[in-house]
Amino acid sequence: MTSRDVKLHRGLQGVYFDRTETTFIDGKKGILEYRGYSVHDLAKKSTFEETAYLLLYGSLPTRGQLEEFDQQLKSSRTISGQTIDAIRLVQDSHPMDVLRSVVSSLAGFDPDYGDNSIDATLRKGVRLTSQLPTIVMAHDAMRNGREIVEPSPSLSHAANFLYMLNGNTPSDDAASLMDRDFILHADHGSNASSFTARVVAGTGADLHSAITAAVAALSGPFHGGAAENVMKMAEEIGDPENAAEYVKGLLSSKRRVMGFGHRVYRAEDPRAGHLRDGVRQLSHEMGDPRWYNILEAVIEAMKPYARRGIHVNVDFFAGVIYHLIGIPNDLFVPIFAVGRVPGWTIQVVEQFRHNILIRPLLLFSGEREREYVPIDAR
Ligand SMILES: CC(C)(COP(=O)(O)OP(=O)(O)OC[C@H]1O[C@@H](n2cnc3c(N)ncnc32)[C@H](O)[C@@H]1OP(=O)(O)O)[C@@H](O)C(=O)NCCC(=O)NCCS
Repeated sequence: MTSRDVKLHRGLQGVYFDRTETTFIDGKKGILEYRGYSVHDLAKKSTFEETAYLLLYGSLPTRGQLEEFDQQLKSSRTISGQTIDAIRLVQDSHPMDVLRSVVSSLAGFDPDYGDNSIDATLRKGVRLTSQLPTIVMAHDAMRNGREIVEPSPSLSHAANFLYMLNGNTPSDDAASLMDRDFILHADHGSNASSFTARVVAGTGADLHSAITAAVAALSGPFHGGAAENVMKMAEEIGDPENAAEYVKGLLSSKRRVMGFGHRVYRAEDPRAGHLRDGVRQLSHEMGDPRWYNILEAVIEAMKPYARRGIHVNVDFFAGVIYHLIGIPNDLFVPIFAVGRVPGWTIQVVEQFRHNILIRPLLLFSGEREREYVPIDAR
């Protein structure tokens, strides 16, 4: 077979590599469903706890099942002194680097360490779902010289996350926006970090290894880093009137407008609209519509690109929401990670259930059959 016979799929674009029963995406129509339920319904009617249960166990919980699951989440929030020490060791790094290192270190402390059964993996996934917010916020307090806020044993997942930021119980509006944000980020098919998690799980490695690798993959600007970059962009634009010129400058120098474009969606990302409403509502409530107006001006400037299938994605509005809630810019990617744990977990479970080593091929394009030259003769 010659290289001309090979159909190359760079970036595995358009390649189906396995089946999933969890998340359905139609990129052309802009449809996203978790376990058959529209993400629009879940964003409006569900909670992160209920959606996480749905993703992990396949059906919406009864009231009793939800209460039990909620208790499991709440009772796993506290992290040990050893984990605090692990955070301290790397406290000067970017929060995503901290998260990656600390998730890895948690493996050996997990009561199911060494057990890769489906039940144990689900239990580990529930614990990691609870522990990631505590790690992110403990690190934020530590690096700023503040007292670490112990997680609340009673607040919802989203409200507790915001509570640990400064020890104040968040407003219902802020908690509900955060909750919606976590729902919208909970799973998204074979995105780069979930694919990474599956590759790791495919070798028989455990959930903590897979999620450590997933956090690493998520840290890149083309995946999880976009929300942080959108906020930087909005700050640089400074005023809605500057948006068109700013966007023109980026595009003419072949740079990308952060928060636009998607590997799968050629229509508007179905998650974006929910956060757009959130930014609008929060900006007006706070009497500061500037950020919302800047984002709308960027959308206006990008309108010609919609014809080429480049629309806003979920990260376009997320950053400004976090900013308005008072979250520092470099915590935006960790927030994405916090929301994505149920998705990573169920994808690892799916991989374990029908495991196959993921091992594609590379088409060799280098030089071959070279003669070895001894070092003195080179
Ligand atoms: C997400 C992303 C990596 C997907 O990329 P992809 O599927 O590989 O698409 P490509 O890189 O092949 O882009 C196709 C074309 O659209 C253009 N394009 C894609 N996203 C763009 C953006 N955000 N701004 C401007 N142009 C963009 C590319 O320049 C390319 O144009 P060309 O054909 O003239 O070279 C890309 O859209 C991007 O970098 N977006 C900004 C980062 C971001 O918001 N990421 C979060 C995703 S949820």
